[in-house]
Amino acid sequence: MRLALLGCGTVGGEVVRLLHEQAADLAARIGAPLEIAGIAVRRVGRDRGDLPVDPALFTTDPLGLIKRDDVDVVVEVVGGIEPARSWLVEALRAGKSVVTANKALLAEDGATLHDAAAEGGADLYYEASVAGAIPLLRPLRESLHGDRINRVTGIVNGTTNFILSAMDATGTGFAEALEEATELGYAEADPTADVEGFDAAAKAAILASLAFHTRVTAAHVHREGITEVTAADVASAKAMGCTIKLLCIAARGVDAAGRETVSVRVHPAMIPLTHPLASVGDAFNAVFVEAEAAGQLMFYGRGAGGAPTASAVLGDVVAVARNRLAGARAASESAYADLSVRPMGEALTRYHISLDVADRPGVLESVAGVFARHEVSIATVRQGPAGGGPAGRGSEAELVIVTHVAPDAALAATVRELRGLEIVRSVASVLRVEGGA
Ligand code: NDP
Ligand code: HSE
Repeated sequence: MRLALLGCGTVGGEVVRLLHEQAADLAARIGAPLEIAGIAVRRVGRDRGDLPVDPALFTTDPLGLIKRDDVDVVVEVVGGIEPARSWLVEALRAGKSVVTANKALLAEDGATLHDAAAEGGADLYYEASVAGAIPLLRPLRESLHGDRINRVTGIVNGTTNFILSAMDATGTGFAEALEEATELGYAEADPTADVEGFDAAAKAAILASLAFHTRVTAAHVHREGITEVTAADVASAKAMGCTIKLLCIAARGVDAAGRETVSVRVHPAMIPLTHPLASVGDAFNAVFVEAEAAGQLMFYGRGAGGAPTASAVLGDVVAVARNRLAGARAASESAYADLSVRPMGEALTRYHISLDVADRPGVLESVAGVFARHEVSIATVRQGPAGGGPAGRGSEAELVIVTHVAPDAALAATVRELRGLEIVRSVASVLRVEGGA
């Protein structure tokens, strides 16, 4: 089996290392030795440390490498939409199996890759694209194929989990924690993709597509990042016995006409410390799957970093190599359900709202009236002096309100109206609450 490796950075370098260190075992598992035919990179002369590889294998001509007759499997760990899409389409149409970690591409235009795979009769595997080392896509696309998945809730971005965990545990600043995550190889080349939730949204689209047999793209996913999460939010969460996580939530629902739909969203949310996802710290990922017959399943492990991601890539390489030797191909994409994706405004969620208000008679009634007008039911209200100062008539107070479940659009309209009230000095924080706090 001859491999064309596209990319030799954080992930690609570890793929090379593992291929070298485990050559004998991999050959035994596949039934044929695995050899690297060539490695396409941007800079052939780049210092790659002690990587156990013949420098003559490096090339800056990925297409030339893919088209070589002696290449059976193409492994893409470069990233981005183009030129990666053109390379993979070329490979798949030519009947070469593809293994990729490129979540951005799969979420933006997975359909083109799946179609090319079907056309060329080739395998397209992408376990590493979601949650790094965690075996998750294979269970969704194979083990759970006899079941009906209702909801997938996950922490799928290591960088933001690292940052939020550090902010929660030690009060580390956002910038400092991001720098450390980048040094550890967790963050994307442009960390905006991590902190603004684009990376998690891409993974959410891939998970939703597999879980609900529907083509969901990144454009369908409601996305909010963590750049506006403040130390005060973290403290508020703690006061409620919660922690803040960047969650990806993909769930089945029913629209007003009774048709089955899916909703897919990524945003920071407060979850109770008793929730299974609350204890997922550092750059770890975890995904909680709720299925009709299987019940609740939890997948946990390292979601980012060179070696963990390379482990998932190699698992796919073994699978596609075995298929090729057997003259077989994995089942193709399953998108038969073709459910429509509901807008975020219809998603059912809860809000935690912290307001600085005037402390005088009638304030609570006015605030409660806004919630009532938008048919949002209040679950709890807590009042204390604003900024810890003295309470009492004429001073300011902090109101912390947690709602019951309501459509997101009603909650957002409530917050908009609160912002316009004379008695509301400021809306200090608005966070969604998930998981039964
Ligand atoms: P890096 O930036 O570390 O590596 C990218 C590699 O691609 C480099 O070797 C670079 O060459 C090469 N490259 C870039 N542009 C070109 C080009 N035009 N032609 C040929 N080669 C090119 O990225 P990562 O290893 O971190 O990520 C790779 C993929 O894996 C991405 O899709 C990412 O989203 C995904 N992924 C990453 C994870 C992680 O933890 N890092 C986890 C899960 C998935 P050169 O070495 O010369 O610069
Ligand atoms: N930047 C990504 C993360 C890498 O932090 O999770 C893994 O996909």
